Amino acid sequence: MDKFRIQGGACLNGTVRISGAKNAALPLLAATILASSPITLSNVPDLKDVSTLIKVLESLGITVQRDKTSGSVHVDASTLNSRFAPYELVKTMRASILVLGPLLARYGEATVSLPGGCAIGSRPVEQHLKALEAMGAEIRVENGYVHAKVDGRLKGTRLSFDMVTVGGTENVLMAATLAEGTTILDNCAREPEVTDLANLLVKMGAKIEGIDSDQLTIHGVDSLSGVDYSVVADRIETGSYLAAAAMTGGCVRTTHTDPRLLEAVLRKFEEMGATITSGTDWIELDMRGKRPKAVSFRTLPHPAFPTDMQAQIMTVNTIADGTGTITETIFENRYMHVPELSRMGAKIQVDGHTAIVTGVETLQAAPVMATDLRASMSLVLAALTAQGETILDRIYHIDRGYEHVEEKLRGLGAVIERVK
Ligand code: EPU
Repeated sequence: MDKFRIQGGACLNGTVRISGAKNAALPLLAATILASSPITLSNVPDLKDVSTLIKVLESLGITVQRDKTSGSVHVDASTLNSRFAPYELVKTMRASILVLGPLLARYGEATVSLPGGCAIGSRPVEQHLKALEAMGAEIRVENGYVHAKVDGRLKGTRLSFDMVTVGGTENVLMAATLAEGTTILDNCAREPEVTDLANLLVKMGAKIEGIDSDQLTIHGVDSLSGVDYSVVADRIETGSYLAAAAMTGGCVRTTHTDPRLLEAVLRKFEEMGATITSGTDWIELDMRGKRPKAVSFRTLPHPAFPTDMQAQIMTVNTIADGTGTITETIFENRYMHVPELSRMGAKIQVDGHTAIVTGVETLQAAPVMATDLRASMSLVLAALTAQGETILDRIYHIDRGYEHVEEKLRGLGAVIERVK
């Protein structure tokens, strides 16, 4: 299993190009099922999770041509000959459930494995199923599979999600584009990745009102067509490299990104004492060699502070001046990085969903283990400032969501190598 060997102490400086967002590329790939002519996506990151979703599409008979160097993926869904997404693929990535809505809307049936357990929480999908049922689908969950069927087309309806769900909003939004009549969805997720999906669907010919708000109105159309579309920048990757600058007292400019995608995170960096400057497609964080000040926050749906940045900002708090209080409200078990950070000398007390972090002067290197994607990045950040050499195990988690992470970090001056 690959590991990272990281020598702490380098101050990160320079420019890093941000990739397309994993969490946008996945629903966009699922949406290609809806199109009656080929779609070309660009700015698609070269990530394990993207490869998994492409495998799911290929297992449905869809023709996919991918050029990893240019980041373009050409999808021709006209060769689709199966409506079955097997456990073997879905268990490796929960987002595979996103093929359910498009398959059902376009072909009237789908059998998709229920995603299995997940390190950060139980993550059920009953909101997706309830909404599709409300649109006229007959749904049975049997032997670990969701069997969904509809006579004719799905029917437009009005419904409100019981909780804000990113994947649920995306699945139902895709399904509603080809439904008969109008669907009104309340309490929708407003994450930029949902907006990116809605923008792609509109380009394909869908009729959607309320994009970027918590109420989406979708007027069903008979068919959607192929287009060229570029994936939005990864706001979490952006925030993670800015956190590396905050952590090491350096100055990092992220390019090919958009400051409007992560305002709540940028405000926290400013509260830490960082100087943030930005243009339409870049953001720079300059820490000017200062020790960051501890910050407090709660994770909440967009536009508030994102759960996917919780571990990284907690890690900046571990070496900050003062005490920060963090409350995780999205996932029930997203503090798996805490015991690992504690092994590096961090002072963190967890009480239920709240973590109280008191900054220490320095962390110490230790052998540590990644438990999930964002936790792995938090441990990389910790290792960058720790005294000594950290060995980070199970980095396959980081490969799911950070494109060329060690090359990018090395480009900023980090001493990091991948070892077997
Ligand atoms: N939930 C339910 N029932 C449902 C759906 C969701 O109880 O039917 C709960 C979940 O268990 C969770 C909360 O609602 O506690 C939010 O879940 P959501 O559906 O919004 O999350 P998701 O769509 O499964 C996406 C991202 C996650 C990100 C969350 C929240 C993708 C592929 N994944 O997951 O990204 O944390 O939204 O913003 O878009 C990551 O990139 O590291 C990652 C975990």
